[in-house]
Amino acid sequence: RTIKVFAPATVANVVCGFDVLGFAVNAPGDEVVMRFTGKPGVTISKITGDNGRLPMNADKNTVSASVQHYLKHINRTDVGVDIELHKKMPIGSGLGSSSASTVAGLFAINELMDRPLTAMEMVPFAMKGEELACGFGHADNVAPAMLGGFVLIRSYEPLDIIKLPTPNLYCAIVFPDVDVPTRDARQMIRKNVLLKDAVVQWGNVAGLVTGLFMNDIDLIGRSMHDVLVEPTRSILIPDFYKMREMAMELGAVSFGISGSGPSVFAFTRDEQTATNITTKIQQHLTGLHIASQTYVSAV
Ligand code: HSE
Repeated sequence: RTIKVFAPATVANVVCGFDVLGFAVNAPGDEVVMRFTGKPGVTISKITGDNGRLPMNADKNTVSASVQHYLKHINRTDVGVDIELHKKMPIGSGLGSSSASTVAGLFAINELMDRPLTAMEMVPFAMKGEELACGFGHADNVAPAMLGGFVLIRSYEPLDIIKLPTPNLYCAIVFPDVDVPTRDARQMIRKNVLLKDAVVQWGNVAGLVTGLFMNDIDLIGRSMHDVLVEPTRSILIPDFYKMREMAMELGAVSFGISGSGPSVFAFTRDEQTATNITTKIQQHLTGLHIASQTYVSAV
């Protein structure tokens, strides 16, 4: 039996919800093709689209490592599978690239094994992959990639993941091709915050979640501000504030860093506005001699 699975890119943090909010987009995403081999163990026979950056060693690759972990958990280390990974999105972009691959792999093995686990039960295995990739098993990419839509990680210990309503919005994404490894982008954040900043932040998180439930686009927009992480991380993103100004002038509902960056995203009410924003920002980056990729998707 062979199975082919697609898993989507995700926007983690959603500006104000560092490590606790994320949502999936329709495109881009990664594809995994998995087949039984008849010989115990997990192998990787092919990786495309990664420019040779990802390990083929099954113990080191996050996709195979999480599949191994899953098989151990369900007591089926007698099973043998081979993985082909087709990367269809940039690595290190802040779009949950490693999560998309890991989630596609876990979804594939669970289908081949006739679904012993629910999607929610598979999230912790995908989190292991994140831990391998960037040092902390954050769930704000893997959970929306696995469950779809908008997701809140209410708590990590114990893990408590809540599906939120998905707003009627479009998402414009621009990936400026500069290097921002998630591991480094996490280390640079201040570990201590001021109470007055925390008050602003949790007011905004609560406002955003309320906006999603009420489908109140203005409330969503005015809640998407981040006083804790963005001021530091924006330094790594070329012309971040200029890009925000351009997006807001063109009618964006909100604008911010996707995950740990360097990708940025804007929410818009319609598809045309999203396209206008990606075109304008891409032109601006080209003027700075920075290559970029753009995506427009429904949320
Ligand atoms: N919440 C994580 C971070 C997402 O901001 O580091 C990484 O994509």
